[in-house]
Amino acid sequence: MCGIVGYYGYRDCSDVLVDSLSKLEYRGYDSAGIAVFEDDKIKIAKTKGRLADLVDKMKTEGKPQGIAGIGHTRWATHGEPSDVNSHPHSGDNVTIVHNGIIENYKKLKDYLLSQGRSFVSDTDTEVVAQLLDFYYCRHHDPVRAIIETTEDLEGSFALGILFNDYPEYIFALRRESPLIVGVGENESFIASDVPAILKYTKNYYLLEHDEIAVLGKYGTKIYDLHYQKLDKELKTADWDMDAAEKCGYEHFMIKEINEQPVSVKTTITPRITDGMPDLSECGIDDEYLKNVKNIHVVACGTAMHAGMVGKYVMERLARVPVNVEIASEFRYKAPILSSDDLVIIISQSGETADSLAAMRLAKSMGAKTLGIVNAKGSSIAREADMLIYTLAGPEIAVASTKAYMVQLSVMYLFAFQLAYAKGRIDENKCRELVGLLQETPDKIAQVIENELENTQFVASKLICSDSLLYIGRGLDYALSMEGSLKLKEISYIHSEAYAAGELKHGTISLVTDGMPVIAIATQSELFEKTISNIKEVKARGAVTVVICRESVELSDDVADYVIKVPDFDDVLMPMLACVPLQLMAYYSALLRGNDVDKPRNLAKSVTVE
Ligand code: G6P
Repeated sequence: MCGIVGYYGYRDCSDVLVDSLSKLEYRGYDSAGIAVFEDDKIKIAKTKGRLADLVDKMKTEGKPQGIAGIGHTRWATHGEPSDVNSHPHSGDNVTIVHNGIIENYKKLKDYLLSQGRSFVSDTDTEVVAQLLDFYYCRHHDPVRAIIETTEDLEGSFALGILFNDYPEYIFALRRESPLIVGVGENESFIASDVPAILKYTKNYYLLEHDEIAVLGKYGTKIYDLHYQKLDKELKTADWDMDAAEKCGYEHFMIKEINEQPVSVKTTITPRITDGMPDLSECGIDDEYLKNVKNIHVVACGTAMHAGMVGKYVMERLARVPVNVEIASEFRYKAPILSSDDLVIIISQSGETADSLAAMRLAKSMGAKTLGIVNAKGSSIAREADMLIYTLAGPEIAVASTKAYMVQLSVMYLFAFQLAYAKGRIDENKCRELVGLLQETPDKIAQVIENELENTQFVASKLICSDSLLYIGRGLDYALSMEGSLKLKEISYIHSEAYAAGELKHGTISLVTDGMPVIAIATQSELFEKTISNIKEVKARGAVTVVICRESVELSDDVADYVIKVPDFDDVLMPMLACVPLQLMAYYSALLRGNDVDKPRNLAKSVTVE
């Protein structure tokens, strides 16, 4: 939520800030702003709306000229999106950008008001600006003012800060919300995420909890809250610049759908040794798995849906009870956990506030935690007892596609190893399953190629609907949840995923003439049952889209539109069948004229509860 950037160097600062912010718009996009030192005075440009609106505004009103500054793209929490609530915010001596939430801002604001300070915005951020200013006025030491301010703040935050008296420096601070410090030749950066700096440098420091960075003329210094200078390890990003660019695709989402075969291959290959799953580098061995009693998968959004598929696969193959929980529910429901339990936290960003809190709770209750995370060095990645990185590279589109796919691939590998460790499948079966998983990249590519036009055509038939249903049984039901979420996220068409067999217990009353029902029917054992459910909705006027195996022939009384995926093992079918669901969502959004990569009200990284 919210992206922050900062730059000190020899380039045109405003250009760098805008370019870096363009890589972070997935974090929020209801307003944008920059503050740059121009002739030793801070000049601010900010506006409600997209980054493009800020660029337009600067074309008419002038672009700040300088070499040091900070920038922000916002996802509103405190105060509606408006020019005045846009960041940066200032006190007399400081200007800041902020990502996160100040939980005790009301108390601090009341105190500052009692000290004669006034506020122009509704944001919690302005309270931080005023508090920094308040301390700075006492001694004119910027780092001390940051330390004192940090000690007063509760919540999660990353800040980029300019002090009027220090035009050749930018300051930054991190508590919980992510922040990196990029280090180039005679230039330095701050950013909420790596793609923002990739064009300029791959080298960066990862700021930890309560660390302060000072960037500028004399290089970069990092301090703790005791004002002690720290020696940090310089990291190198292994993503290339293409990862943050559209590379000829119209949108990041379609680019990322196309990247799925490579992402899966990259993710699974290093975790397979001699045809067997090998998660030992991630801290997971058979001895440990043998003794796991219960598994809880805790996550949000798409990541939780990957967990739903994982549940079906783990329970079927390893016969271990698996409980899938929404992180925001899990953390407040007094979960029942013991030291024999494993809690798997799935997260693309590794920073989702509820998932992180759920993981900390599980750890505090003695359960072991396994993070399945895409963003390197993120909070969940650092704090989990065991960790499997998904290797999808940066995912920029808000609607997750390739991250989901690699989460699935890891769920499979984990389930295979678990089932083998538990003695539920023998070595031959395990090898066979791993071999099939290794075939999925090619098959995913085949589905993309074969179904691109068909899914576009089917999408054109859905876009005038107000509401539709996704149905399926077993793994098809688990997958339908993600299909439904994908569609509503970006096309804004209401949809619901329903277990096909449960329809007649209420939801079938919603089916009227012309209502689209998307049925996923890839599971051989459940096929006939799903077909009966499809006929039930068809008999009530539904327009049916059926996703099924290539070898299946469907009659007209079942399907109005058919989307086919290659014949494959039942267990692995979700990895193929999810592709047309992603494509249908993509084309529906596109045909409705929506902003595919930056859907209304949504942010990719949700660092607030
Ligand atoms: C947001 C994103 C979703 C994502 C969810 C969980 O809602 O828009 O795409 O699935 O957060 O994010 P995580 O980073 O934890 O996977």
